[in-house]
Amino acid sequence: MRERGGRFLSDNTAAACPEIMAALVAANAGTALSYGADDWTRRLDAAFAGFFAHDVRVFPVVTGTAANALGLASIAAPEGAIYAWEGAHIIRVEEGAPEFFSGGARLVPIPGKEAKLTRDDLAAALRAQPPRGASALSLSNVTELGTVYRLAEIAALGEHAHRAGLRVQLDGARLGNAAVFLDCHPADLTWRAGVDVLAFGATKNGALAAEAVVFFDPALAEGFERRRTRGGHLLSKLRYVSAQLLAYLDPGVWRRNARRANALAAQIGASADWALCYPVEANQVFLKLDAAQKQRLRAEGFEFNDWEDSGPDHTRFVVSWDQPDAEVAGLCEALRALPGARPENKESHANAAAD
Ligand SMILES: Cc1ncc(COP(=O)(O)O)c(C=O)c1O
Repeated sequence: MRERGGRFLSDNTAAACPEIMAALVAANAGTALSYGADDWTRRLDAAFAGFFAHDVRVFPVVTGTAANALGLASIAAPEGAIYAWEGAHIIRVEEGAPEFFSGGARLVPIPGKEAKLTRDDLAAALRAQPPRGASALSLSNVTELGTVYRLAEIAALGEHAHRAGLRVQLDGARLGNAAVFLDCHPADLTWRAGVDVLAFGATKNGALAAEAVVFFDPALAEGFERRRTRGGHLLSKLRYVSAQLLAYLDPGVWRRNARRANALAAQIGASADWALCYPVEANQVFLKLDAAQKQRLRAEGFEFNDWEDSGPDHTRFVVSWDQPDAEVAGLCEALRALPGARPENKESHANAAAD
């Protein structure tokens, strides 16, 4: 336990939650068949079908980057394109993995407000750079700026993409946080809104290392096993990843963890509403702080990232599922006490509500 301040660098700094550890301990008994022939992995398709209320094929991997790149490679041809918001994780952080695994599909960055695309943004990009060969639209929900696509927004994009002949992939590294914010069924955020392939994230929200590629159209999963092996993501002792995923699907785990992280982030946002860059809709808070304010917070022991990519003086605070209450309370107090805190200049981002 820290004595002062708090670590708000990333939800990847969090521990794994007790239910995940218990599932790992339970799976850690005796021998089990290897390379996904084990009892845990064999239950995944049925468990995820229940979770999403839809037939699915599910393939565990251990990073979100692999889930994105291998999933996208299943729907984008080497001569095709992958359309995404310009700051998307797949474009800015994944070192060309989607291009590499697809054998060359072009990443097409699209500008969009608050990390979201609209149907018009997509239409303009398709006019400027029409797809050649099998192509995909990739969306992130939660977005990279902590905002959440509403169901109607995803559905409109999905419909437009499908009409243009694209398949739709969703980066769901924080899908649980989006579902909690919207108070919706996971199906609403995915196949009901036109998502064909999902990168399902569990690691950030309480797993130790567990992600999955979920295909809502089993035909798209054709050849995926070989693709995953070639990509180095077929674990020999796959039971350990699958056991985490099975435990994570319990709403008492994913929903509880996401709900807590979102609620704490909302408290931070409310304490610094004068500095908000974007509405606080999930577990990330982006604040515009000047050098003196940043320095003071850091001197008080708070760790957070500068986020200049999003704008000058932008910073990012991420709340984890296991963030100590005291750290959040301390940060809220420190933000309110900052020199230059201007409660009278509230921006419209405060108290965002789902619609
Ligand atoms: C939006 C988003 N997508 C995907 C990832 C993939 O994560 P990793 O490959 O680090 O597991 C991350 C991780 O920060 C993310 O924020």
